[in-house]
Amino acid sequence: MAGFEVISARPLDARLLQLDGISRATTEAHYRLYQGYVAKRNEILALLDDVDLDQANQVYSVLRSLKLDLTFAVGAIKNHEVYFGHLGGEGGNPNGVFGRLVERDFGSVDRWRADLRATGLAGRGWAWTVYDWDESRLRNLLGDAQNTYPVWNATPLVALDVHEHAYFLDYQTDRASYIDAFFENLDWEAVNGWIDTYRIS
Ligand SMILES: [Fe+2]
Repeated sequence: MAGFEVISARPLDARLLQLDGISRATTEAHYRLYQGYVAKRNEILALLDDVDLDQANQVYSVLRSLKLDLTFAVGAIKNHEVYFGHLGGEGGNPNGVFGRLVERDFGSVDRWRADLRATGLAGRGWAWTVYDWDESRLRNLLGDAQNTYPVWNATPLVALDVHEHAYFLDYQTDRASYIDAFFENLDWEAVNGWIDTYRIS
């Protein structure tokens, strides 16, 4: 019996096929990548299940490779579930509790947006707005790959994917215009729903 649970990709909300400024072709290709990460995660866990720890001296390099690949696949799944989970809205300024936290922790919505936008331009993979539970505040973080650089005990509430696969088809190298489109499709109800679920206040 497998010592892990096989997971399935979350379905793609039909609203994501009609985003403003992010084409259906981009979203469909992007979603297939996400499905690939889910398959990869299941495959890696099956392989890890078969590693004989009694033969550890022989399997360290195998373990190292599988465990690194696992962080990449699981990171990609979590990142994309936030990304696809909060697109399909009307954009505009954040409202509700998230809007209040943004004002409190960044001084203004414009300041938060400018910082996340610049972080997305500076990064190579992701820019996140996270709630840091140890500091009880929001912070914008930068990621280069699916498994770099999240921090412990922080929950991503906004995940801006700046990999080329997220925008090249629509914008070629014009990442800034893609980021502007990203902001215009955010669904604040989804973000505030996560805040409710996690009991952030
Ligand atoms: Fe992506």
